[in-house]
Order: sequence, then C-alpha cells, then structure tokens
Amino acid sequence: MTDKKDILALIEKAETTHELTKDEIVALLIDTEYEAEFFAAADRVRRMYVGDEVHLRGLIEFSNTCKQNCLYCGLRRDNKKVNRYRLGPETILDFATKAKSYGYRTVVLQSGEDEWFDVAAMVDIIKKIKELGLAITLSVGEKPREVYQAYRDAGADRYLLRIETTDKALYEKLDPGMSWDNRVKCLQDIKELGFELGTGSLVGIPGQTIESLADDVLFFKSMDADMIGVGPFIPNPDTPLAKEAGGTFELSTKVMAMTRLLLPDINIPATTAMESLNPQGRVLALQRGANVVMPNVTEGEYRQLYLLYPGKICINDTPAHCRSCITGKIQGIGRKVAETHGFRVKRA
Ligand code: 5AD
Ligand code: SF4
Ligand code: FES
Repeated sequence: MTDKKDILALIEKAETTHELTKDEIVALLIDTEYEAEFFAAADRVRRMYVGDEVHLRGLIEFSNTCKQNCLYCGLRRDNKKVNRYRLGPETILDFATKAKSYGYRTVVLQSGEDEWFDVAAMVDIIKKIKELGLAITLSVGEKPREVYQAYRDAGADRYLLRIETTDKALYEKLDPGMSWDNRVKCLQDIKELGFELGTGSLVGIPGQTIESLADDVLFFKSMDADMIGVGPFIPNPDTPLAKEAGGTFELSTKVMAMTRLLLPDINIPATTAMESLNPQGRVLALQRGANVVMPNVTEGEYRQLYLLYPGKICINDTPAHCRSCITGKIQGIGRKVAETHGFRVKRA
C-alpha cells in the first residue's frame, strides 16, 4: 500500500520534475483518494506551460470508408450497417473555408483508411486548404513514408495517429491484420518528416491493464509527441466488442492528466469521447490538463454517419451551433479562445 504521504509526494514529484517511474505512474493511476489533488496539479502545469488559451481545431470527417477492421470501431470494414460516404474535394474545401470563417486556425482532416483518396487527391486538397492560411492536421491512418513525405511537402503541418495501446499483443488482437511495429514506424516517419506528431490511446479496452496505461504515457514521452489524445473506449453495438464494459470518464481523464504532468508543454485535447460519457466532459478535461478542443465542422447528415461509437455528441448540431456552444463553455470557466495557430512551443 502506498500511504497518503507517498501519494502526495508523488504528485509533487510529477508536478516539479515531470518524471515518474512506471511503478509511480501506476500508484497514482490506482489511487482514488487524492484524485482532486492530482487533477489540480495537472491543471497548474497546464496553466504554467501552455496558459489559459484554448486552441480550437475544426474537424472535417471527410470519409467514413475504412479498409481496416479494428474490433472496437464502428467504421470497421465488416460493419455492413454503415452507409459509407466520401466528401468530394470541393465539399472538403467548402467546409474548410467555413471553418476559417468561424475563426478556426486549424482544420483536422480525418477519415478511415480510404484508398480512394490517393496521394494526388490529398496533395491537391492540402495545397488548396493551405492557401486559406490554415494549419492542417491529417488523421488518415498508416501510409508508406513517401506518402507522408508528399503530404508534408504539400504543406500539412501535423499528423494524428494513435498508438491505441502500447501492449503489442493486445493491439494486434484488436486491430487484426495490422502490425504494432509498423504503427511505431509510421510514428517515427511522421516525426522525422517534421510534422507535429500526435498520438494517444484508448482507455478501457478489454484486456488492458493499469500497467499498460502507464507504459502508454512513458511511450508518449519517449516519442516526444507534440499532441496526445486520450479517450475512453465506448463499446459500439455493431462491433465484436459490443458486450464489453468500456472505459470510464474518470480513468481516461486520469491518463490525460498524467500525460500533462509528464509532457508539460504539449497540446492535449479534451476529447469528444470524454464528453460522450459525461455531459461536462470537455470542460472537466480542460480543468484536468487539456488545452485543445476539436469542434466538428462537418455538415449535414455526414455527422450521423461517422459513428465510431454510440452516443457521440453534436451529431444533430450545426458547425455554427458548436462554435458558439464551445466558446460559451470555454469562457464559462474563465479561459479564452486562442487566436494563434497553436503549434507546440517547446518549454520542457
Ligand atoms: N470508442 C472510443 N474511441 C474509438 N475510436 C475508435 N473506436 C472507438 C470507440 N469504440 C478512436 C480510436 C481512433 C480514433 C479516430 O477513434 O482511438 O484512433
Ligand atoms: Fe478504420 Fe480507424 Fe476505425 Fe480502425 S479505428 S476501423 S483504422 S477508422
Ligand atoms: Fe457541438 Fe456543443 S460543441 S453542441
């Protein structure tokens, strides 16, 4: 048993040195008595390193078609219940232009792994969006290094590819046909090519341990990731994991807060999945270490069709509504919406 003094000392160590051993991370993730102190420390580190500004990234979900078959995900190729869609380049550009008009300085282009968008098509879209003066984050999965290179040369600034879990055996069980080593190789390529690197994990997938979550945070640190998105696994009824328990809001924010303590100057989103489990989820996450929100700018029926998990927020809302909703929430906790592009400023 770790006693009271030990837990408080560990929180102080994390806050002041940003270094913990795996056992220390586990002790803090397990503790339920000093959660308030732990979250308060993450909030102070957030404030000291990245300030009170919240960066908004406009999310465009441009294709729900995916060649992969991840057991947890509603967009997996074997899910025949999904009406698949792809937005044409003009529509993507239209949504990006509107994102700019809402004051977003970044658009995130996210899709399943959809080969229909070949390199030439993506490069064209990236170049046109860059002409609008926006930063671009891509979240389109595993690609060969040359493809990442072409996206980078076209002007893409950041890339999101979650490791999902650092437990290789578990990863390969839940993501059949995919290789954990190749995923790490992709992350290394992305980093070497000069993108801001975003990764992260799912919290509460079946078979995951607290030790493995501690490894995840140490992995984020070893990769020197620039952005980390952590969210609870939410079982989707149309997937093989339908009957599993799923992750909790509390544990996912604990992993997020731990990430803030150990990687103090990075960008950390308050994730949509957190708010899907708790109506105050994003605001609470912003008070437990997060400094980014990614409001959806996809319009019309497409939002309902991009269903990774049930209960996803905002599926019946318009981009304009989400813009004012999230601004209200941010200002309601005394924070402000940033007006810069929101790149990581290395301070650690
Ligand atoms: N619950 C929560 N997050 C999910 N993702 C996929 N399926 C689920 C689910 N059922 C996450 C994965 C992926 C990101 C785009 O969505 O972590 O990387
Ligand atoms: Fe495809 Fe990503 Fe879903 Fe896996 S998590 S099935 S790669 S959209
Ligand atoms: Fe979409 Fe609040 S952010 S409704």
